[in-house]
Amino acid sequence: MKTILVAGGAGYIGSHMVALLAEKGYDVVVVDNLATGHRQAVKGAQLRVGDLRDADFLEQVFTEFSVDGVINFAAFSLVGESVADPLKYYDNNIAGAVGILTAMKNHGVNKIVFSSTAATYGEPEKQPIEESDRTDPINPYGASKLAIEGLLRWCEGAYGIHYAALRYFNAAGADPTVGIGEDHHPETHLIPIVLQCALGKRDHVGIFGDDYPTPDGTCLRDYIHVRDLAEAHLLALEYLDKGGQSGPFNLGCGDGYSVKELIDTARAVTGKPIPAVVEPRRAGDPPALIASSQKAQEVLGWKPRRDLRQIVADAWDWHSSHPEGYGD
Ligand code: UFG
Repeated sequence: MKTILVAGGAGYIGSHMVALLAEKGYDVVVVDNLATGHRQAVKGAQLRVGDLRDADFLEQVFTEFSVDGVINFAAFSLVGESVADPLKYYDNNIAGAVGILTAMKNHGVNKIVFSSTAATYGEPEKQPIEESDRTDPINPYGASKLAIEGLLRWCEGAYGIHYAALRYFNAAGADPTVGIGEDHHPETHLIPIVLQCALGKRDHVGIFGDDYPTPDGTCLRDYIHVRDLAEAHLLALEYLDKGGQSGPFNLGCGDGYSVKELIDTARAVTGKPIPAVVEPRRAGDPPALIASSQKAQEVLGWKPRRDLRQIVADAWDWHSSHPEGYGD
């Protein structure tokens, strides 16, 4: 494997993947329509701007580069927006996956690592969640990702395209050594919002519900450093290259932190007060989402190495040095 195509490589997680691949000496080509990605986030790779639903565009890219493997991050990923506009999610996420798989089939590329999500589980029956647990998404975003996992299974049977579907829990943090980080418009994720409060860009963070059946009443999430995620993708690609069996893999640390604990960690890291106000629950938030990543650890040899404090410290490094994000 020499040349890796990263779809969605200008986005938050994709750009960290690109930086890792470049650091490891791979030739990287990014395809991204820049709908939510940032040109400046692409470090050490060639960028081709276009849409995965544009067959002519992909044909050009796959003709220009001799692609050995694909990693697909390209998707819309806002849960609330997906409920309000499911067609937007099914069109972009699923038709985009169909586009890239079609190009792979036409050009004999037989390995793909796919960016899936804990949202495929919906409201889990137990914690920590294992890959064999019931998948029953409660929003179109999770449903679109689960549909693509199904498509990947069929494509393996029909065309011999092998896949790893990586179900992330809460991706967070940044890579301070490369100068990339999280920059979403609008921002809905807890850690960037909390850090925007620390920067004085917001006057408080709303805690969405403190009456959940959890130790302090606020939701528990499994935060995973974006660099640990990127490392898992590389291991997954190498695993597929060695003939490993396709399937889903959870990626999380296995520890659940509450919204209140997260805010306290951010107060400790930043030294800022970060005012917090309890607000009503946000629709569709499960009380707890905690991964068992035993399969990824045993099968891929992956281990998350960065803890919550490191996640928040690296995110703080990014947000405090780039208060306007990429400024585009
Ligand atoms: N939260 C707040 N206040 C905020 C923002 C978030 O209290 O201003 C809470 C949420 O209610 C939730 C926790 O902080 O309990 C984390 O929320 P995020 O929005 O940061 O992340 P989610 O757990 O909702 O979503 C993440 C990914 C999704 C993915 C989902 C899988 O961002 O893409 O995990 O369940 F679908």
